[in-house]
Amino acid sequence: MRLLAVMCALTAAACGTAPVDGEQVFRAALDDGNTFSCSTCHALKEPDDLRRAGHAIGDATKRPSWKNGAAPTFLDAVNSCVTTFMGARPWVEADARYVALKQFLDARAPAGAAPALRYAHVAPPSVVTGGDRSRGEALFNVSCAVCHGVDGRGAPQGPNLAGAMLDGDHIARRVRVQSGRMPAWSRERLDDGELRDLVAFVSTAQVPDAGLYTPDAGDPGPGSGGACAKTHAKVGWYADLATYAHGVRGRATITDDCTVTLSDFHYDGNGIDVRLYGGIARDFVNGFPIGGQLYRPGQPYVNVTLPMRLPEGKTLDELDSVSVWCVAARHNFGDGVFRAP
Ligand code: HEC
Ligand code: HEC
Repeated sequence: MRLLAVMCALTAAACGTAPVDGEQVFRAALDDGNTFSCSTCHALKEPDDLRRAGHAIGDATKRPSWKNGAAPTFLDAVNSCVTTFMGARPWVEADARYVALKQFLDARAPAGAAPALRYAHVAPPSVVTGGDRSRGEALFNVSCAVCHGVDGRGAPQGPNLAGAMLDGDHIARRVRVQSGRMPAWSRERLDDGELRDLVAFVSTAQVPDAGLYTPDAGDPGPGSGGACAKTHAKVGWYADLATYAHGVRGRATITDDCTVTLSDFHYDGNGIDVRLYGGIARDFVNGFPIGGQLYRPGQPYVNVTLPMRLPEGKTLDELDSVSVWCVAARHNFGDGVFRAP
């Protein structure tokens, strides 16, 4: 009786209340955790039509060891998921949720022992480009959409990825290397080819036109430079823009003390909140916008000349490089360092 009292103190929810339903534990978020449930990341049985981060666990209570031998008991394996991914407190053996879940799984497991799983958590390959975007989109919607929403448009479980224009290597690392609450995907769950397909999709995933960023009402759009003296030593300096994304290319020339003029400028108009940014040593995170909004989806810039005005209070001393910069995603679409003609 004393032991039971201690157990009740540890697992208050379990005693004197309705019995806990094991299937409910498997399928619902934990009271003290985030919005994930076991079923966010595990099927009971595979194959089915989704691809989750974890293997199916319908027979997991019958395995001799877990997590490649790192978890000596089934409870340890479950607790590593409960704490790392679900943000909840670890369970004790007598926790009513654990007891109910174990019974639920045991009742579904095949008779006899099940083999231990082997899976490899490896770094992404050094080259993650070259994937097939449409295969990547289909795969995203059966593996990542459970947390990131259809086509990456966001869900309670995970952030919006569409329109973020994330770097391919960054995406691949997030998928393969455990960090935050997002589970790492072993090579067995997503192979290198599939990872490249995902990168091809996620790095270019767009938000649909409706509800897109719209420039501030007072934003004049690009241009409106060209009215200052030509006294600064940097007048006449130019930078040829390297192309990183969205077809950005062209030349930026300092045409007077307050104007950087884009010429032969090309850019597809997409992204979110895209500006010409100035900075020192290509540090645009700490840079500043020059001129107005460049973002205008569906209206590409082709061979355009645009005088862009420095904001009030900024001088040419505060820049030696410029970028076509996606402010929302801190993504550099194309940049260059000024040099004397
Ligand atoms: C956010 C995703 C996520 C959630 C939520 C999650 N797990 Fe996991 N789990 C994983 C990953 C990833 C692995 C290791 C890789 C694998 O299984 O392929 C894993 C491994 C396991 C293993 C060990 C499998 C083995 O044989 O090595 C068990 C058991 C397990 N989870 C049970 C659970 C239970 C029970 C819950 C709910 C209380 C849960 N997990 C919640 C992602 C998750
Ligand atoms: C179980 C939920 C879950 C699943 C499944 C999931 N993610 Fe995530 N992901 C998250 C969360 C939550 C974050 C936010 C940061 C964190 O806590 O790790 C995140 C962050 C990311 C980021 C970083 C975003 C940034 O702005 O830097 C990328 C990229 C990403 N996920 C890609 C994917 C891809 C690709 C898949 C499918 C293979 C996937 N995720 C599946 C939950 C998930």
